[in-house]
Formats: sequence, C-alpha cells, structure tokens
Amino acid sequence: MKKAVIINGGNTRNSRLTAIQQRVEGFFDNAVIAFETIYVHELPPEDLIAANFNSENIKLVNQQVENAEIVVILTPIYKASYTGILKTYLDLLPQKALEGKIIVPLAVGGSAYHLLAIEYALKPVLSVLGATEILNTVYIIDKQIERSETDGFKIEEEAEKRLTTELQHLLTRK
Ligand SMILES: Cc1cc2nc3c(=O)[nH]c(=O)nc-3n(C[C@H](O)[C@H](O)[C@H](O)COP(=O)(O)O)c2cc1C
Repeated sequence: MKKAVIINGGNTRNSRLTAIQQRVEGFFDNAVIAFETIYVHELPPEDLIAANFNSENIKLVNQQVENAEIVVILTPIYKASYTGILKTYLDLLPQKALEGKIIVPLAVGGSAYHLLAIEYALKPVLSVLGATEILNTVYIIDKQIERSETDGFKIEEEAEKRLTTELQHLLTRK
C-alpha cells in the first residue's frame, strides 16, 4: 500500500485549511493510500524555535516523512508566503528528506493576490530538500470554504474540482 504524510502548516485545527485536509484524507481513504498527519503547531514549540534536531518528537515525525512516498504540504498564506511555523519544521528535516517523493502543495489565502507565493517561496525550499516531482499548486481562497459550527466545512465546487483533479494525478504515478 502506498503511504502519504500530510504536513499541516497552519496554526489551528479550526482553520479552513482543515477543510482541504479532510478532502485529501477522504481521497486517500478512497484510493487506499495510508496516511499520517503532522500538525506543525502541535509539535513542541521549543524544539521548533531552537531547531532541536535531537528532539524525539521531531525524529518521530521525520520518520513519518521518510516512510511516505507522497508528501502533502498544506499552508495558509501569511504575509505573502507560507507560514513561519511551517518553515521552522522544514528546517528540521534532513538535507534530502524529500528526494524521490511526490509533493502536493496546497494553500489557502485571503485573496488571489498571493497566488504565486508557493511558487516563489515554498517550491525553492522543496527543491533544496531534494524534491523533483512537485504537483501543481492548488490555491484556494478562504471565501471558497464555508465554515459552520454545526455542519463543519464546505468547499465551493470550483475549488473542490481543482483539488480533485490534482490529487488524481497521484493515481497515475508509480
Ligand atoms: C497573520 C496573517 C497574515 C495573512 N497574510 C495574508 C497574505 O499575505 N495574503 C493572503 O492572501 N492572505 C493572508 N492572510 C489570510 C489567510 O491566508 C486566510 O485567512 C487563512 O488562510 C484562512 O483563514 P482561517 O485560518 O481563519 O480559516 C493572512 C492571515 C493572517 C492571520
């Protein structure tokens, strides 16, 4: 069975980012792809801030990345880039941690103005980490995701379709 890891670079499980994550998880369930999720904001802050490579918690999640063939990176757009906390974790990955893996970058932003943030900010970092196979970014505007206390999240059809189309590329890869 193929294995995936989802790296959630948001700062709360209540973010609209979770809607995208749930959609990805549903896709993996249907496609019989095993997955684990890393919530960066739930890792020990002192390990992230001090770049503690010897942390057992960090070693554990790094192992999850090592075991995966597919790495989904989820981030909200903050200040025209991916989040700072996501970078604190990416800095703790081994030098070529993403070599040979398929990377799926997914972002949610407040507007379309920062559509290219993933291309100019995140993708160079992924390349340095050894990634050569990076799917097209799916960028969803927060207004396209409805959040309700009672019914959870609902993603607008247009965004949902773009997301599904990109995820389906995973099924045709080796
Ligand atoms: C500190 C901060 C900075 C942000 N900077 C940007 C930005 O530069 N560009 C943008 O499109 N959205 C920006 N946003 C909006 C978020 O990307 C968007 O609201 C978020 O992904 C979804 O909101 P939620 O987590 O409340 O569901 C920013 C939000 C915060 C909190």
